[in-house]
Amino acid sequence: MPPKRTIFSINLSRAKSEGVLGYFIMTKRTTVVIDTDPGIDDALALMLAIASPDIDIKAVTAVFGNVDVDKACDNIRRIFSVCGMKKMPLLGKGAANSLSAEPYKQRFVHGVDGLGNTNLELSGTVSGVETADEVIRRAVTEGEIDLFVALGPLTNIARILIEEPVIKDSIKEILIMGGSVFTPGNATNEAEFNFYQDPEAAKVVLNSKIPVRLVCLDLTRQILFTRDLLKRIRRKKDSPLSRFIHSMFDYTLDYHKRYKERDGIYLPDVLAMCAVVDGEVVSYKDLSLDVDIKKDKGRVFDNMEAGNTIKFCEKIDKERAVNMFVDGINGLIEGESG
Ligand code: BDR
Ligand code: CA
Repeated sequence: MPPKRTIFSINLSRAKSEGVLGYFIMTKRTTVVIDTDPGIDDALALMLAIASPDIDIKAVTAVFGNVDVDKACDNIRRIFSVCGMKKMPLLGKGAANSLSAEPYKQRFVHGVDGLGNTNLELSGTVSGVETADEVIRRAVTEGEIDLFVALGPLTNIARILIEEPVIKDSIKEILIMGGSVFTPGNATNEAEFNFYQDPEAAKVVLNSKIPVRLVCLDLTRQILFTRDLLKRIRRKKDSPLSRFIHSMFDYTLDYHKRYKERDGIYLPDVLAMCAVVDGEVVSYKDLSLDVDIKKDKGRVFDNMEAGNTIKFCEKIDKERAVNMFVDGINGLIEGESG
C-alpha cells in the first residue's frame, strides 16, 4: 500500500452517502504523479482522481499511446478544464515513441481526438509545458510523491530509470495499468496494448526493484460497463462535463457494439485508478513477472529468475469499484468535489 502523507481532507461524498449531516471523516491524502495517454478510459480515470478527496495530484505527464504525445498533452488540459479545475497541476510532455524508436501509429479505438470525437475546445494558454523528465525528476526528488501511476506505455518512467538509475531510490511505488498474465491480450493474442507499445520499457520498470502494483487485463475484464450501468452517471443538460462524458460513452459503446459485438465497455484505467483511491478494492497476489521483448512482444510471463516481486491485482470488488466511480463522477458533475 502507498505510504500516506499527513495532509487531511474532508470526505464530503462519503459523509453524505452515510447520511450524516455535518459529520466529516478525516483521511490522509495520497500524493501522486499520473502518467497518461488520454484516451477515453484515461480521461475518466483522471476525473476519478480529481474527484477523490483522498488523492493529491502533484503532476501529470503525457506519453504517446492512444494518441500522439501532443494530443495527449492537449487532452490532459481539456480534461482538467472541463472538470472546472482553475489550476492545472504541473504538466510534462513525454515520449513521442517507444525506447526502440518505433514510429508512432495513430489508433482509432478512442476516436481521432482520443476522446470519442467530442472535439472539446482547448481553452486558455499554458505557459511553457515542461518535459516529463523534468517534471518527474522534480516531483520524486522533492520527496513528495507516494505513488507513480502509469496509465499508458511505460516509456517516460523507463527512460529516467535508464538515464539516472539512482532515481529509483526516490520512487516509493508504481501502480501500472498494463499487461495480461492469465488472459489473452488486446493488442495481440499475447500482449496488452500498453506493454505492446513499448515492451522494453515495461521490462525495465518491472525489473527495476521499485515496488510495483500491476493492474492487468485479467482484472480490468472483471467489470463490463454496460449502457444501463453507465446510465447511473448523471445527465445534466447545463453541465458541459456531463455532456462531454455521455458523448464519450455513446461513441465508445457504439464502437464496441459495431466492431467487437460487445454490449458494454471495459475501462482499464478507471479500475487502476480505483485501486489508487482505495488500495483495498482489489486483492493481490505476489508474482515474479517478466516481459517478452523478442518473440511475442509485450507478453508477460512468470519468471522466478527475474527475482522481482510484483503485486499482481487479482480480484476486484465489483460493487465497491462501480460505486466509487459513479459517485466520484456524479460528485464532479454536481460540482461537489474536485
Ligand atoms: C490500455 O490501453 C489503452 O487503450 C487504455 O487507455 C488502457 O490504458 C488497456 O489495454
Ligand atoms: Ca491509457
